Amino acid sequence: MANLDPIDAIAYIVLLVVSFIYLIRLTFVSSGKSAYDSLRADQTSTTNDKVHGFAESVRSSGKNFVVVYGSQTGTAEGFANALSKEGSQRFGLKTAVVDLSEVDVSFLRNLPEDIFVIFVMATYGEGEPTDNAIAFHQSVIELAESAFHDKPLQAFRYACFGLGNRAYEQFNATMRGMDKALQNLGAKRVGEAGEGDDGGSIEDDFMTWKESMWTDVSLALSLHETEMVYQPLFIVEELASSNNTSLLVEGKITAQSTNLIPIVESRELFNSRHRSCLHMEFDIDGTGMTYETGDHLAIWPVNSRLESDRFVSVFGLKNKLDICINITAIDPTTSRVPFPCPTTYEALVCSYMEICAPVSRQLILSLAPFAPDDDSRAAAIAVGNSRQAFNTRFTNNYYNIAQALQSLTPLPWDNVPFSLLLESIPKLQPRYYSISSSSLVQPKQLSVTCVVESVITSDGAAVFKGLNTNYLLWLTSKIRPASINGIDLLEYPITKIRNNTDGNGTGPIYVPAYVRHSKFRLPKTTKRPIIMVGPGTGVAPFRAFIQERDAQAKAGLPVGRTILFYGCRTPDEDFLYRHEWMEMTAHLGDNFTLVTAFSREGKEKTYVQHRLLENADIIGDLIVNEKANIYVCGDATHMAREVGSTFAQIIAAKRRVRLEEGKYALKAMKSRGAYQEDIW
Ligand SMILES: Cc1cc2nc3c(=O)[nH]c(=O)nc-3n(C[C@H](O)[C@H](O)[C@H](O)COP(=O)(O)OP(=O)(O)OC[C@H]3O[C@@H](n4cnc5c(N)ncnc54)[C@H](O)[C@@H]3O)c2cc1C
Ligand SMILES: Cc1cc2nc3c(=O)[nH]c(=O)nc-3n(C[C@H](O)[C@H](O)[C@H](O)COP(=O)(O)O)c2cc1C
Ligand SMILES: *[C@@H]1O[C@H](CO)[C@@H](O)[C@H](O)[C@H]1NC(C)=O
Ligand SMILES: *[C@@H]1O[C@H](CO)[C@@H](O)[C@H](O)[C@H]1NC(C)=O
Ligand SMILES: *[C@@H]1O[C@H](CO)[C@@H](O)[C@H](O)[C@H]1NC(C)=O
Ligand SMILES: *[C@@H]1O[C@H](CO)[C@@H](O)[C@H](O)[C@H]1NC(C)=O
Ligand SMILES: *[C@@H]1O[C@H](CO)[C@@H](O)[C@H](O)[C@H]1NC(C)=O
Ligand SMILES: *[C@@H]1O[C@H](CO)[C@@H](O)[C@H](O)[C@H]1NC(C)=O
Ligand SMILES: *[C@@H]1O[C@H](CO)[C@@H](O)[C@H](O)[C@H]1NC(C)=O
Repeated sequence: MANLDPIDAIAYIVLLVVSFIYLIRLTFVSSGKSAYDSLRADQTSTTNDKVHGFAESVRSSGKNFVVVYGSQTGTAEGFANALSKEGSQRFGLKTAVVDLSEVDVSFLRNLPEDIFVIFVMATYGEGEPTDNAIAFHQSVIELAESAFHDKPLQAFRYACFGLGNRAYEQFNATMRGMDKALQNLGAKRVGEAGEGDDGGSIEDDFMTWKESMWTDVSLALSLHETEMVYQPLFIVEELASSNNTSLLVEGKITAQSTNLIPIVESRELFNSRHRSCLHMEFDIDGTGMTYETGDHLAIWPVNSRLESDRFVSVFGLKNKLDICINITAIDPTTSRVPFPCPTTYEALVCSYMEICAPVSRQLILSLAPFAPDDDSRAAAIAVGNSRQAFNTRFTNNYYNIAQALQSLTPLPWDNVPFSLLLESIPKLQPRYYSISSSSLVQPKQLSVTCVVESVITSDGAAVFKGLNTNYLLWLTSKIRPASINGIDLLEYPITKIRNNTDGNGTGPIYVPAYVRHSKFRLPKTTKRPIIMVGPGTGVAPFRAFIQERDAQAKAGLPVGRTILFYGCRTPDEDFLYRHEWMEMTAHLGDNFTLVTAFSREGKEKTYVQHRLLENADIIGDLIVNEKANIYVCGDATHMAREVGSTFAQIIAAKRRVRLEEGKYALKAMKSRGAYQEDIW
């Protein structure tokens, strides 16, 4: 970090902005609501033409098999790409892949009858479609309501796979609703409606469904299976001369949802030698970014030096890193290049490809033909085909693709076409954080509360380190070396993280980020009581809520009861914002109550739901008689469900009705926004 060149620093920053903005433009149509909205806004006048144009181009390019996807973080999109590729390479189908944001139901109505469609759709929130599928989903549901009797899609045949997580109440709701609507419109589903549970089995669910789907679809469409031959989707052209400026010319991109925002402060919140939780403050003044209390900050990570090096050495790219490359999609209806070109191998590996993601069986199997020798090919095929071997050898060790291949053979896999890596390795995704500051109190500066992911594998042999959180920890070490709790740091390839126009290496450190607007909001009237349940980092948005209520009380507004249920291990180790709560008590008096559950303090584990039950009387009274709003934030897998059923129980007891009616009352609260969740 010592000698930083100001020109390079600026060039780097510009390059970073350019690459990220490009990513945003293409992936954010689905991820960032605001970006999505603004992009849609300038498309509305041409939407119809576009949709017809799309159906037309599918028709005129002779496609007969279309895979459409509704995806937020790329899983469904990856499955869609895999289906398209398999359709074309295994069955000789003429496939296309369609992002649902580009079409509406008239797309289906305009398709020729002999075109088969596969839907791959994920579910979010309270059983809602992904951002990129909202319009399509709505248009299908509306048509199903209005044209029920005409059955306008009678000639239409499709297959479908829904992605979800059984931890959510509305498991797989999007695909289920879509499936029903399509059938009501007369469409015929071929094979079973597949469903994948992101709680751990999603890939196996997909692989199992896929095989039976191909059997059913082969029968229905009389397909003939041929030997799979790999055909690249991209042309990767290595350019002779690298002209710096050509890397930067895409700077004219206008969809400015990502900004480089400086870190104003980053400090450790835990008092532990092994675990870390960061409080980070970012300056958004002058960026044009705005936020509201309850929103999320999306941060773009960078791959670590260790993993980037591993990846390039496994794939034999070491000597090619700074070669300038231009990438072109061979068939724009099946694939597109989602980053600015020309670029370099290094830029792609470090900041475009999610190279640390869990390796998938599909990926191992698709790389197997390019193995360096027969033994490693046989080994790859064997592990790829066995769920059990794959889990014990790879998944349980948290292996990414390069680690997995390294464990099969010490030889480099330098025969793998780079196009294949581009096709099968997911795009790097931003990570979301619930903003932990109030926009009323600090509109120009926002904070997040982020726990650093570090998991020891079951055999204790290795430690898995989360991508973005360890990057943030490393950045923190550059700002406040003393604040790092003895946790091993990974190093990152970015040597020029500061805007160092002053030349002495003390400029601010930036991260590329954008605000994603949420629906997680305080009640409109400050008088309404609120009950918040946020153990661990789930407390983040509640720090913001309480900050806001405190400011409102100071401004003389009547602020109703504000109750926070917080849980952590022990009061000394990981009690987040302990001192701030004391201050709030001083300001808000009896209107603020903090109820704590320390899981490792007593003999029995105490969690927030236990504390809720202990306070059932007062909680029940606030909900039933005072119309309190309930907010739950944090872990979706266990906590949110347990807390939800505890509330149902409390309501039922208060009203002296059966539990079923308590559950029903909770559902009603959810649908009118009186019970809100921010869970992950
Ligand atoms: C709406 C929303 C709000 C959120 N708010 C907050 C918040 O306020 N505070 C907060 O701390 N977090 C929050 N999160 C979580 C956060 O977005 C990140 O998921 C978290 O910080 C981990 O990111 P990471 O890049 O460090 O870890 P990743 O590298 O993405 O790893 C995350 C997990 O994925 C799995 N995984 C990744 N790679 C592998 C592999 N190779 N093999 C096996 N398993 C693997 C592991 O289970 C790992 O624990 C929120 C998430 C959402 C969706
Ligand atoms: C914030 C959040 C909310 C979710 N809500 C639901 C839900 O209501 N029902 C469900 O079945 N799955 C839900 N899921 C799980 C996703 O559908 C699942 O992870 C899916 O694999 C994501 O696919 P994608 O990567 O293509 O977006 C949710 C996931 C997240 C992160
Ligand atoms: C998931 O959705 C499919 C339709 O897409 C449906 O057949 C299936 O029953 C659903 N599963 C659950 C658990 O709701
Ligand atoms: C680099 O690109 C710029 C703008 O595209 C051009 O003006 C310049 O001549 C190029 N330089 C070289 C060495 O190719
Ligand atoms: C950009 O140009 C400078 C000077 O011409 C050179 O030192 C540098 O390596 C080039 N960078 C890239 C990425 O081509
Ligand atoms: C990169 O490829 C695109 C699409 O084929 C082409 O238009 C562009 O000129 C190419 N750029 C360079 C520098 O070769
Ligand atoms: C870097 O700092 C200078 C001086 O403060 C400022 O003019 C410039 O806009 C900053 N660059 C970025 C990318 O923020
Ligand atoms: C670095 O430069 C800035 C502005 O020129 C100055 O305020 C600061 O004190 C300098 N820091 C060091 C450590 O020299
Ligand atoms: C507490 O809430 C009550 C009822 O809304 C209100 O009258 C009182 O002023 C509040 N107290 C404080 C300190 O805000």
